[in-house]
Amino acid sequence: MANKILLAYATKYGSTKEVAEAVAKTLENKGLDVDMQQASQVRSVKEYNSVILGAPLYMYRWHKHAVQFLKRHEKMLKTMPVVVFATGPSFKGDEKEWLETREQFSKELANFPWFKPIEVEVLGGKFDPANLGFPMKHFLKDLPAADLRDWDAIAAWAAELAGKLQAK
Ligand SMILES: Cc1cc2nc3c(=O)[nH]c(=O)nc-3n(C[C@H](O)[C@H](O)[C@H](O)COP(=O)(O)O)c2cc1C
Repeated sequence: MANKILLAYATKYGSTKEVAEAVAKTLENKGLDVDMQQASQVRSVKEYNSVILGAPLYMYRWHKHAVQFLKRHEKMLKTMPVVVFATGPSFKGDEKEWLETREQFSKELANFPWFKPIEVEVLGGKFDPANLGFPMKHFLKDLPAADLRDWDAIAAWAAELAGKLQAK
């Protein structure tokens, strides 16, 4: 069987989809066969050798489509290498925010004791108060828009992943 990778993602405002596209591009440039799909649309992971699942954190929780993906595909995911990433830090981007996001992500993953990803990563996110509806707009209106996605760091991480997934 050819080494085929599923890159499943969830997003609310599109920034995580763009991160997933950048990861897919790097993997493809390294010669890997990547199929990118919305996590909520994936019916089966059987045809893949490995899975990358990426989604943002919102209000301390990983996007529900990512959580549902883990629940729905538990049986198969136990048998294959899985990489997960969360997008998050997009406000101050200081060490404290990164640490908090890493803790939030660890807590979310701890809800799935059976789940043993080969790689867990937190990547910067994008915040735009203009996107928000009530009541969030009211609470967060004074925060400036920010885009903490570091495309060079994303490409470097994906290139490392390519090596690991090729070896699997
Ligand atoms: C209302 C709101 C709540 C958020 N909550 C968190 C959070 O709890 N932890 C975190 O790390 N990031 C949080 N973020 C940042 C998002 O994860 C970040 O903006 C991400 O890039 C959004 O991804 P998307 O554009 O794919 O929906 C929050 C953003 C908003 C707008």
